[in-house]
Amino acid sequence: MESAENNKLLTQVGRGTPMGELMRRYWQPFAAASELDNNWTRRVRLLGEDLVLFRDRQGRRGLIAEQCPHRRASFAHGIPTQNGIRCPYHGWEFSGQGKCLNQPNEIDNPAFREKVSTPAYPVQELGGLLFAYMGPPDKQPLLPRFDGFVAKGTIRMMGRAILPINWLQIMENSVDPIHTEWLHGHHYEFQKEQEGIKVAISARHEKIDFREFEFGVTKHRLLEGHSEDSEDWTVGHPVVFPNMLAVGNGDEKSRYYSFQIRVPVDDETTMHIWYNAYVPPKDTVVPQHLLDTVATYDVPFKDAKGDFIVDNVDGQDMMAWISQGAIADRTLENLGASDQGIAIYRRMLRREIKKMEQGQDPMGIVRDEARNALIDLPNEKKKHHNSDGFASFMLRTHAKYSPIAPDLVAIFEPGSRTPAAGKAAEAEAALY
Ligand code: FES
Ligand SMILES: [Fe+2]
Repeated sequence: MESAENNKLLTQVGRGTPMGELMRRYWQPFAAASELDNNWTRRVRLLGEDLVLFRDRQGRRGLIAEQCPHRRASFAHGIPTQNGIRCPYHGWEFSGQGKCLNQPNEIDNPAFREKVSTPAYPVQELGGLLFAYMGPPDKQPLLPRFDGFVAKGTIRMMGRAILPINWLQIMENSVDPIHTEWLHGHHYEFQKEQEGIKVAISARHEKIDFREFEFGVTKHRLLEGHSEDSEDWTVGHPVVFPNMLAVGNGDEKSRYYSFQIRVPVDDETTMHIWYNAYVPPKDTVVPQHLLDTVATYDVPFKDAKGDFIVDNVDGQDMMAWISQGAIADRTLENLGASDQGIAIYRRMLRREIKKMEQGQDPMGIVRDEARNALIDLPNEKKKHHNSDGFASFMLRTHAKYSPIAPDLVAIFEPGSRTPAAGKAAEAEAALY
């Protein structure tokens, strides 16, 4: 349970709030680079700020406040120039650094031009995604080169859902191993029961554990019937501080990297990104277009009737998160011993805010180029999510909505048929 004040501290992401400032110390992904290929501009809302991403005529990207500092028209309809973008209303021109370059109908006055500079944030590309840094310029860290974002020759895709909820309740799900037993286990069994199908997939958690490491915290589970040397228990998988989960890794035959990034749009909206990078099996010829761009897709959470879609693991998660309310009211919760991960994560958030306020870097900030060559995250390397087949596994997750799902099945499980719905019931429930 938290006081109302603490709940605000942990959830508010606007500029000037403690958590908002902490979030601004980390690079945040907001789009796939390919999404700007056919457009000159794109509106972006991040951490409560309305922004416009644009390309100038030299192909350089800029991310600036959406509203023009002249009389507030939107740069979303701006005209690209050699060195920036012009506002569509009166043609004032700005660079990607937010500097006013030109005021066409004014007498040239450098002091006035200087005065009307506009907020602008650096953008970098990694693994086909675009990341923004919105913190103090003198604190800008390196964009961390986590394994799955830099692995060579992978097939990448990015699913996205704009969720009507605060970011923190989504992250708390990632330090809550027990939920898999229920939400993805018993609840799924109950759905099937109503269809007249008997399945038993839930596995009981005997123990859970959490261990802090350089970039966040790993979570560990020992499931009934598994041994203490299982990787689920010895290695686990990481929550990368402050707002990313890394799962997956598959096995030798179907290695992949899988991230879930919870980017705060504002206090009550979160852009949920699923970023997967698949390593094709040796000697497979992969069509070039699959290697060139990151395929993007939307992940729905409600059907045409307005009901939650709960036939896949990610849909089940989104149902639970959204049902907690726009900002979960933590003054009314009752944490038990099985919620130890939640308590640990909240403590970490408060501790890192404090460090930042005392002038130190919060955890996981990378400034050393050598360290950043490749950051290998701790992760199970023999996780057989797809023990009942690659195609079946995809059907059980957000990946079913990916436009390249059939291509991936053809590569990783050639000759497979689309599995019958009931087959998915043999899924391993303890996924995330
Ligand atoms: S409002 Fe942008 S130039 Fe006038
Ligand atoms: Fe889940």
